Amino acid sequence: MLIHTDEPFNAEPPTSALAERLTTPVDTFYSRNHGTVPRIDPAAWRLEVDGLVERPSRLSLEELRSRFPAHEVIATLQCAGNRRAELIEVRDIPGEDPWRSGAVSTASWTGARLADVLAEAGLRSEAGHVAFTAPDMARGADPPQLYGGSIPVAKATADEVLLAWAMNGHPLPAVHGAPLRAVVPGWIGARSVKWLDRVTAQAEPSGGYFQAVAYRMLPPDADPSRCGPGAGIPLGPVALTCDILRPEHGSRVPPGPTEIIGYAFAGDGRGVARVDVSPDAGRTWTQAKLDAPASPWAWRLWRTTLVLPEGEAEIVARAWDGAGATHPESPAALWNPRGYANTSWGRLRLTCHR
Ligand code: MTE
Repeated sequence: MLIHTDEPFNAEPPTSALAERLTTPVDTFYSRNHGTVPRIDPAAWRLEVDGLVERPSRLSLEELRSRFPAHEVIATLQCAGNRRAELIEVRDIPGEDPWRSGAVSTASWTGARLADVLAEAGLRSEAGHVAFTAPDMARGADPPQLYGGSIPVAKATADEVLLAWAMNGHPLPAVHGAPLRAVVPGWIGARSVKWLDRVTAQAEPSGGYFQAVAYRMLPPDADPSRCGPGAGIPLGPVALTCDILRPEHGSRVPPGPTEIIGYAFAGDGRGVARVDVSPDAGRTWTQAKLDAPASPWAWRLWRTTLVLPEGEAEIVARAWDGAGATHPESPAALWNPRGYANTSWGRLRLTCHR
C-alpha cells in the first residue's frame, strides 16, 4: 500500500492489485480516515435511530441482525479525492492528500437495509434527509468535530443502501468501520460513514463540516478559506469515470502485444455501455472487452491487448454510459480548489523497450 499518512491512516493499493478481480480483498482495499480509528466494544455498542421518526430506537448488533433481513450488495466505493494527484499537476492544491488512482475499491457488503430500519422506526413525512454520525474525532475539520454526513431520504430508502456489518463475507475490519458502517452505493465514499452509531432523520442536510464545507465542488476561482458552509455543489452521486489499472503508470514493458486492464464506473446505478482505449494518446481507438456486470453498483473491469511499438507510449481510456455520455479528456478541464472528482480519461505512460 502507498501510505499517505499514518495517523490518521490513509493508504491506497497499487492499481495493478485492483486489476486482479471484481472484489478487492480487505487488505488491499483503500483506507480513508479523517481521525483515529476508534476502539469500539461491539457488546456495548448501540445504534441510535432518532430525529423525525415515530419510534426512536436503540439497537444492538444482535438486534439489527435478528430483526431485519440481511442483504448483500456488491458495490464500489470511490473517494471523491481519488486521482487528486493529477489535478495537483495542473495547479497545486495545498492541504489535501495527493491520492493517485487507488482510492477506489469494490466489495460485497452484507447488512440490513437502511430503508427497513427507518420503516420500523416510522419515518415521518417531514424528513428530507438522513444524517449519519460516528465517534471518530476529525481534528482537521473546522472546527474539529465528529465525522458525519447525510443523504437525502430518497437515497436513504433505496434498496441498495445498507447498514453493513460484513465485507467480502467476513465481519467488517476495524479500519473499514466495525461493527457497523453505512454503505451508500454509487455515491462518493464520504457518505458511507464508518463506525456508525447514530442515524437521524431530519428536515435539512447535515450542517457538519463534511457535508456543509468539505466534499463540495467549488468553482475554480473560489478561495476555499473564504467559502462558508453551503458554498459549492454538495457531492453525492459519482460521475462516470474510467481508469487504467495495469500495467502500472510509468512502468517499462517489452514492445509488442501488451494487455491493458482497467475499470469503468458509472456511479449512481447508471450502466457503463462501452470503453474505448487508444494506444496513441487519442488519435486512434479500439474497444475494450468489458467483464459482465456484477451489480449496478459495482465497477466493470475491462481489458484489451494493444500492440505497442518501441519507445514511449501514452495510452488513454474513456467510457460511455447508457445515455451516450462520456467524460472529460483532461484534468485541467476539471481542476477545482479542493481537488475532487477527477473523472478525466484514464492515462498511462509506458516505456516500451526490450
Ligand atoms: N467514516 C468515518 N466515521 N470517518 C471517516 O473518516 N471517511 C469517509 C468514509 N467514511 C470516513 C468515514 C471517506 S472520505 C471515504 S472515501 C470512505 O469512508 C472510505 O472507506 P474505507 O476507508 O473503508 O475505504
